[in-house]
Amino acid sequence: MASIVLKRTQQKVTKSTCADTVYNAIKAGYRLLDGAGDYGNEKEAGEGVRRAIADGLVKREDLFITSKLWNTFHAHDHVKQITKMQLGLWGIDYFDLFLVHFPIALKYVDPSHRYPPEWFGDDGKVYTQNTPMHETWGAMEELVDEKLAKNIGLSNCQGSLILDVLRYAKYEPQVLQVELHPYLTQEALVKLCKTFSIAVTAYSSFGPQSYVELGVDKGAPSLLKHDVTSSVAKNHGKTEAQVLLRWATQRGVAVIPKSNDLGRLSANLDCNSFDLSESELAALSALNINLRLNDPADIDGRLAIFA
Ligand SMILES: NC(=O)c1ccc[n+]([C@@H]2O[C@H](COP(=O)([O-])OP(=O)(O)OC[C@H]3O[C@@H](n4cnc5c(N)ncnc54)[C@H](OP(=O)(O)O)[C@@H]3O)[C@@H](O)[C@H]2O)c1
Repeated sequence: MASIVLKRTQQKVTKSTCADTVYNAIKAGYRLLDGAGDYGNEKEAGEGVRRAIADGLVKREDLFITSKLWNTFHAHDHVKQITKMQLGLWGIDYFDLFLVHFPIALKYVDPSHRYPPEWFGDDGKVYTQNTPMHETWGAMEELVDEKLAKNIGLSNCQGSLILDVLRYAKYEPQVLQVELHPYLTQEALVKLCKTFSIAVTAYSSFGPQSYVELGVDKGAPSLLKHDVTSSVAKNHGKTEAQVLLRWATQRGVAVIPKSNDLGRLSANLDCNSFDLSESELAALSALNINLRLNDPADIDGRLAIFA
């Protein structure tokens, strides 16, 4: 399902525009909203949802609202505490999908002290916490039992951790959300998820684009202006962005492109009305250079989850 995504405040969807962006996206036809505690805009996103429901554009059950558990809330009791708080911010009773944002446990930060807590303590240092995924996943399962989340899943996890969770899961992860674009094609991971019927959602479908404004694009050439993407786009009379999204969806991977612009929102939604040929898919996949733009190891060497 196509979606609008709700990026962290410093990555563009500011509090002042978020409610309108969500409302306009729903009006344009978006039904999946990808949020997270870390994005700092759940209250505003919820306002957009409420307005759309009040105006009769949709009912709650027409929407698929995803949110994510931040790293500082991995301990059993904190999972439920923060999920209830996040639901309150959205103004809804349940999440359709709740994901463990990263397989990284950081020291608890009381939301009354700082929310969202982000990566660093008050002194600018990173404090890890020894909460194993086994404990966190058990608490995530309780969210399902208590009807606070309809589905639960993982994000930013590799094969070995997924296999570990599957060993003890009462409820298996329904979704894995990972960075995935032609510079990071993740074939083996997608195959593993398919084997275990875990749906894969790609984030950062446009590769370096969303990292440029943060100055962390690692110097990678734009995929939206790449010769290969442009020539495929020309073949179909589509935009480069639509081609990048179709490349993913045609591989059975869901996409959650983010845009603040209504025209680009609408265009991105229209990404399944054409088919790429096998050779076009292969040409795009051949751009793979295993370039990972969102790697917590860049913050602190102890967080090298993709090592
Ligand atoms: N699980 C995780 O750890 C994680 C990490 C990162 C992201 N995510 C989720 O995935 C979402 C998407 O990833 P992302 O934001 O990194 O990247 P993205 O969707 O690949 O790229 C967004 C960037 O592309 C631009 N853009 C959007 N549509 C365009 C188009 N048609 N033509 C040209 N430029 C276009 C946007 O600018 P405009 O807004 O100006 O259009 C923005 O700069 C996030 O919002 C978030 O919900 C999850």
